[in-house]
Amino acid sequence: MKRPDKKNIVIFASGSGSNAQRLLEHFERHPEIRVAALFSNNPKAYALQRAETYHVPALLFSRDEFYNSDKVLRQVQQFKPDLIVLAGFLWLVPQSLLHAFPDKIINIHPALLPRYGGKGMHGLNVHTAVVQAGDSESGITIHRINEEYDKGEFILQEYCPVHPEDTPEELAARVLQLEHKYLPLVVEKLLLEKDEL
Ligand code: GRF
Repeated sequence: MKRPDKKNIVIFASGSGSNAQRLLEHFERHPEIRVAALFSNNPKAYALQRAETYHVPALLFSRDEFYNSDKVLRQVQQFKPDLIVLAGFLWLVPQSLLHAFPDKIINIHPALLPRYGGKGMHGLNVHTAVVQAGDSESGITIHRINEEYDKGEFILQEYCPVHPEDTPEELAARVLQLEHKYLPLVVEKLLLEKDEL
């Protein structure tokens, strides 16, 4: 049974969902916050199974439903989200959702924005670009979203080194550790209006 007093998180994920998993774990027995639902655009997303394992409703939607109807918006509204977390979600969020939840949608990006953001900059594409540029550090950016890919207000950036011999895969693994550590803490801080992580 849902307890009405908890704050609700709704997750959007397109792929494996290891960040979603961290949120599911972190808030499973949390006294004040719950993961209310996970939405995905991808029928093969392992994130859907992760949600089901935690007995969290997992909802699948099509491109047409997302962009040409208000079906997804209405479904999301049923879960009364206090925060919507894009955790490896690859589609641009439509205006209707942005307007319904102003300042309530955040994204995690596996690089130090504003560099290495924008359309097509996801997954290994990001880490390949960082390694090829010869940067000595990378990291994560957790930010609010707006109408453009990776352009909303920053909430947190955390850094890690890039070693000269790194492959994109090695860098991805290092960055993912930061994502897993900080995403649940940022969500908790925002929802509980804490001053610190
Ligand atoms: C993560 O690097 C996330 O920052 C990015 O996509 C990846 C998704 O990983 N947006 P997962 O699906 O959470 O395992």
